[in-house]
Amino acid sequence: MNKLLITLFALSVACATSLAQAQAAPAASAAPAAAAAPAAAAAPVAPASPKSLEAKTAMCFGCHGIVGYKGTFPEVYRVPKIAGQNAKYIAAALNAYKSGDRKHPTMRGIAASLSDQDIADISNYYEHLGADSRDKLGDKPDQEPDTQVAGLVQKAACFSCHGSNLSKPIDPSYPKISGQYPDYLFVALKAYKTTDNPDVGRNNGVMGAIAKQFSNPELKALASYVGSLDSELQTVPESRFHKH
Ligand code: HEC
Ligand code: HEC
Repeated sequence: MNKLLITLFALSVACATSLAQAQAAPAASAAPAAAAAPAAAAAPVAPASPKSLEAKTAMCFGCHGIVGYKGTFPEVYRVPKIAGQNAKYIAAALNAYKSGDRKHPTMRGIAASLSDQDIADISNYYEHLGADSRDKLGDKPDQEPDTQVAGLVQKAACFSCHGSNLSKPIDPSYPKISGQYPDYLFVALKAYKTTDNPDVGRNNGVMGAIAKQFSNPELKALASYVGSLDSELQTVPESRFHKH
């Protein structure tokens, strides 16, 4: 190596070293401050900071925050209302998309991008979203079913799990179904019967056994009745997120 090259080499090493130090220094001094800030502000159970929650849910509003927004696969139906749903059920549903027990391709892709912490934060957020404008339901559904539907409801004891008004499930990991969109309910019920399609269907021991007892016209009648009832579920547009 000639002298010039050695000098250049030495210079570039020195440069790289001082650059690395310059970068390391602020990082090292900033770290304790960044770590201290949330700790100082934290309540006993630290809630997700609004900013990260906003980032986590921004995409969801693109479909679940638009009243009447429709999915087109495997048929055209309104995307489900998720505001006001039980957090444990929302988490169970997201985990079922993630594991592939629920096969809907778009929701599978979305759920796969969420960590356990994201799912916990998002589920908790949606359970409470719209709580101030939520219908208060009575103990019984606000409408009686006709005789056909009354027979179907009795046959599979829907009330015994989803609650006396279909919005008070016996376990928080079970969904509120009263007043959910009827076209979505029909698609969901049919999905529990479908177990042989890679892109359509839901693997669920409980609802699979129930849905398989009914023909599609019977499931449609059930979905129309349940979907016509008053609801604690809502589609809440994104603008309400920002409470200025
Ligand atoms: C491209 C539109 C779209 C986006 C974006 C989207 N979803 Fe969905 N979501 C759907 C559709 C369609 C379904 C119904 C799928 C099915 O039939 O199983 C669904 C179903 C769900 C369900 C199941 C509801 C139930 O009653 O079982 C949950 C929970 C859910 N989505 C949460 C989310 C969350 C949280 C986000 C954001 C992280 C999100 N979705 C983003 C379209 C979307
Ligand atoms: C033994 C308890 C039980 C009974 C009885 C029952 N369900 Fe369910 N239902 C469940 C559970 C648990 C789930 C959640 C399954 C899952 O995670 O996908 C569910 C899910 C559903 C869903 C999907 C909701 C959504 O948002 O996607 C619909 C619709 C539904 N049930 C309707 C009915 C109807 C109608 C009846 C009566 C014909 C009925 N269920 C009877 C336990 C029950």
